[in-house]
Amino acid sequence: MKSISFNRSFMKADYESWKGPANSDQMNGIPAPPLQKAPKTDAEIIPLKDVPLPDTSEMNLFEILHHRRSVRQYALESLTLSELSFLLESTSRVQKILGDHVATFRPAPSGGARHPFETYLAIIDVDGITPGLYHYLPLSHELELLKEGVDLDEVVISVNGQKFAGTANVVFYYSAIPYRAEWRYGLKSHKVMLLDAGHLGQNLYLAAVAISAGACAIASYDQEKADALFDLDGEDEFIIYIIPVGKKA
Ligand SMILES: Cc1cc2nc3c(=O)[nH]c(=O)nc-3n(C[C@H](O)[C@H](O)[C@H](O)COP(=O)(O)O)c2cc1C
Repeated sequence: MKSISFNRSFMKADYESWKGPANSDQMNGIPAPPLQKAPKTDAEIIPLKDVPLPDTSEMNLFEILHHRRSVRQYALESLTLSELSFLLESTSRVQKILGDHVATFRPAPSGGARHPFETYLAIIDVDGITPGLYHYLPLSHELELLKEGVDLDEVVISVNGQKFAGTANVVFYYSAIPYRAEWRYGLKSHKVMLLDAGHLGQNLYLAAVAISAGACAIASYDQEKADALFDLDGEDEFIIYIIPVGKKA
């Protein structure tokens, strides 16, 4: 049932489930789901952990916050692998594994440290890496090559024709694997996951400013086309947020 009041109630904390402990799989003793989606066994893996980080000393945090804008026009300049590594490191890289592989700490906050997201990339123009579709492995800071080459039309179609996405250096596609959060919070988890996604987006915006690039959040996208780009089933995993990043014009 889709209605304004149904959607509004989803935004509130007035579900019965918020009034007591979550009835969740965790409470019922079911083991935690994996912290990251495993790469395919025969996938080509690109390690990033030895790539040096870029110099980001030019601006302090206040200046970065002050300069943050949604950027839709990009320079004809490549992003470096070091800059891409920095963007991933600033958003999703695992900093610490908690408990018996139950949760992780990462640069963005996430309710219950669930981090129910996967990062997919359409790499269009990054020096030192073949253009293509990639999946980020946040535990090992590596990229899994999914497909060589990017069809820019497919990228633009996936964001309902917003052409600027096809002119970015790299387009971040964030998926949700809801069970990672449902396992702990049941019905409480869905609102929290959307709040979490916002934090991830803000981290990416700010990290982009620090390397003289710009980002633009996208909520207007085609669910089926975006899911199909990365072969996601649309039920247990689906795209929820798309953010092109490009060098500032
Ligand atoms: C969740 C979210 C979704 C957005 N979706 C789009 C979008 O689909 N297309 C677009 O051009 N801008 C989109 N934006 C960018 C907003 O239009 C932008 O943040 C707003 O105009 C304020 O500008 P500023 O970010 O430069 O401060 C989105 C921003 C957010 C936070």
